[in-house]
Amino acid sequence: MNKDVPDDDAAIRYYDSDYPSLEIGEPQAGQVVQLERMGILGDVGFYKELAARTGGPVLEVGCGTGRLTIPLARLGLEVWAVDVSAGMLAQLRAKLAREEASVQARVRIAQQDAATLDLPERGFALALLPFNTLMLIPDPDEEQATLAALAAHMAPGAVLAFDVMNPPTLPLQADRTPAPCEPRVAPDTGNRYVRTAMNTALDVFQRQRVCGWYDELLPDGTVRSSDFAFHWRMIFHAELEPMLRKAGFALESLAGDFEGTDWTVQSRRMVVTARVERGRVAPPPHPPVARKSGDRVPPTNAFGARCLRHRLHAPAGQGRGSDSCLGRETAEFPPPPSGGGLGWGHRSTAFPLADHAPG
Ligand SMILES: C[S@@+](CC[C@H](N)C(=O)[O-])C[C@H]1O[C@@H](n2cnc3c(N)ncnc32)[C@H](O)[C@@H]1O
Repeated sequence: MNKDVPDDDAAIRYYDSDYPSLEIGEPQAGQVVQLERMGILGDVGFYKELAARTGGPVLEVGCGTGRLTIPLARLGLEVWAVDVSAGMLAQLRAKLAREEASVQARVRIAQQDAATLDLPERGFALALLPFNTLMLIPDPDEEQATLAALAAHMAPGAVLAFDVMNPPTLPLQADRTPAPCEPRVAPDTGNRYVRTAMNTALDVFQRQRVCGWYDELLPDGTVRSSDFAFHWRMIFHAELEPMLRKAGFALESLAGDFEGTDWTVQSRRMVVTARVERGRVAPPPHPPVARKSGDRVPPTNAFGARCLRHRLHAPAGQGRGSDSCLGRETAEFPPPPSGGGLGWGHRSTAFPLADHAPG
C-alpha cells in the first residue's frame, strides 16, 4: 500500500492474514505453504541473520505491522520502525503491547514518509526496506529520495538491505479477468476469506495499479466484501545499481531469494544488500520534482466488490492453485459475470489506463 492508501483499505485490515508471521502469535497450519508460495518464507530469517551480524541500531522503513520489527527487537536490537501508514502502525502498536517490556522498550515508532525521512537519530548500522516497500513508493523521484534519505541516516560503511519482486516474473499486461486466491483463514477471527486481485498494464514509469476486493464469510453465513487498491513501480535489474550509486551506495550482493541463490532473470525476487560508500555523504533528500498533473500516480479509488461465495465455502487449502505477493493472485480465472452488476463490468470506466499515462 502507498502513502495515500486510506486506513480502512482492506489490504491494511487483512495484512497479517495475507502475510502471516510464523514468529508472532500461534502459527497456523497452512501458513508455511502460504508464505512459500509467495516467495517470502525466508525473509524474516534473512533480515534477522543480517541484523545479528551488523548489530544495531536498525532503521526499518516500511515496517508495517511489525512482521519483522518484533523479531528484530526480540533479538536484542534497537529498532526505529518507520511507516507512513497510521493504520499499519496501529496494528504494530497493538502487537508490540503484547511483547515483554524489554522488547517494547527497544522499538521506536515514527510515522513518516520515507522520501522525506528525518529522524532525531543518525549513524544507523543497518537500514532495511523489506518486502517490496521500495516498489510501493511508485513515484521514481520519491523512490530515489528515499534511498538518499536512508543513506543520510546511516554510518559510513553501513549496510542497506531490501527485497523487491523481479519484474520479468510478474504480469506486465493488464489482467483480463480478476484472479481469486484460494480460501484463507483469518487467524484472529477464524473466518474464511478470499482475496481477488487484478492489475493494469505497466505505464511508462513501470507502474501498475493493483486492486480488487476481499470476501469474508462471517459466522452468520453472510459475506462481507471490502475493496483494496494500491500502485507499485517495478524496479528492473538494470536500474538497481544506478539508483543505489546515485544515492551514495555501492551494491554488495544480489540474490534471487532469501537463501542466497544467485540471481537470474527468472528469479522470483531481487534480494539486495549495499553499503554506504565510505567517506561519501549522500545529499539530503530533496522535495520530489513537481510533475505535470497527468504524470501523477492517480489516487486510489474504490473497486466494485463482487462476492465469490462458492470459493469461500471450499475447504481452506483445497482451492485452485494461487500465488500472491501483495499483488496479483494467480489462479484459474472465474468466468466474468454475464452482465451488469458491480466489479467486472465497471472495469473499463473504473480503471482507464489513461489515468496512468503521462500527458
Ligand atoms: C509490503 S508492506 C511491508 C511491511 C513489513 N515490512 C513486512 O515485511 O510485512 C510495505 C510498507 O511500506 C509502507 N510504505 C509505503 N510507502 C511508504 C512511504 N512513502 N513511506 C513510509 N512507508 C511507506 C506501507 O505503509 C507498508 O506498511
